[in-house]
Amino acid sequence: MSDLLKIKTNLIGLIGHPIKQTYSPFIHNLALKLKGLDYYYIPFDVDSVSLKRAVKGMISLNFVGFNVTIPYKTKIIPLLNHLSDEASIIGSVNTVLIIEGNLSGYNTDVNGIIETLLPYKNDISDEIFTIFGAGGSSRAVVYALIKHFKPKKINLINRTEDRAFNLKEVLSDKMNFNEIEVLKYSPPDLIEIVQNSKLVVNTTPLGMTPEVDDAVVSSEKFFNKNQIVFDLVYNPQMTRFLSFAKQSNAEIINGLDMLIFQAAKSFEIWTSEKFPTAEVKSELQKILKEISSQ
Ligand SMILES: NC(=O)c1ccc[n+]([C@@H]2O[C@H](COP(=O)([O-])OP(=O)(O)OC[C@H]3O[C@@H](n4cnc5c(N)ncnc54)[C@H](OP(=O)(O)O)[C@@H]3O)[C@@H](O)[C@H]2O)c1
Repeated sequence: MSDLLKIKTNLIGLIGHPIKQTYSPFIHNLALKLKGLDYYYIPFDVDSVSLKRAVKGMISLNFVGFNVTIPYKTKIIPLLNHLSDEASIIGSVNTVLIIEGNLSGYNTDVNGIIETLLPYKNDISDEIFTIFGAGGSSRAVVYALIKHFKPKKINLINRTEDRAFNLKEVLSDKMNFNEIEVLKYSPPDLIEIVQNSKLVVNTTPLGMTPEVDDAVVSSEKFFNKNQIVFDLVYNPQMTRFLSFAKQSNAEIINGLDMLIFQAAKSFEIWTSEKFPTAEVKSELQKILKEISSQ
């Protein structure tokens, strides 16, 4: 049938402000096309006074659901009817499913983190982890690690110490885990702490294009060959943080798999169809390579 004869395309939205540097429309529209599904994913830049009206509009227009990005991942919660366990504990939602006007919120970043680290589960269980950053994605990382990777201890390091203490308090309490230690963000003093960690994760935006010379650590001396080092940043794929880790022969992981796995989970929530992971990853890698060579 000609596309021009279609009368009902299922709609999925993305709301955030400002909407910039998002690959989600590319990822989802490509996956929907590859699967031959009659859906379309549309980004909307929504200012904060319009958040409630935008959500009501999507309900009225029979949207299947939507993604939520900065700055609404927490602000969306009072507008929802139901929260998944992980979204409720983390206090952050990135995916909403609409069924007959009822809104259910999920945090699929957690799935992205779990799927990315699953191949390393045996290596990291019962070990010390160090996490840089205490924002929304750090909460998802700490939740996923406590829930699925049996940490012996988590060191939490953030520029604004209070925010790290808040994360510690909330997750220790809700997850009954008392081995989170907040440490000062003063890079030269952290070499030994980071060196003694089996898993080191950067959840800050440091090193992201265009500020590619930034990193939470200052040299390869922070790392060793027995470590697994994960940077949530995916653009560029080789951040300064990861290149220091690589110089010390650590195993490195960038944020691309997490980006794809979180999208895959959202896609499955909306469509109940399996996400074409390998094809989307290969196309996304091509696009990111093109962008970084411009
Ligand atoms: N791969 C993926 O799928 C994926 C998914 C989610 C997020 N991410 C990436 O993760 C990063 C963080 O996202 P988020 O949602 O967690 O952001 P967020 O909630 O704004 O948190 C940012 C964190 O980074 C710290 N930070 C920011 N600028 C800093 C600087 N100049 N020096 C030291 N620390 C700094 C902040 O510290 P303060 O508390 O002191 O401000 C905060 O802890 C972004 O780059 C995002 O693209 C990737």
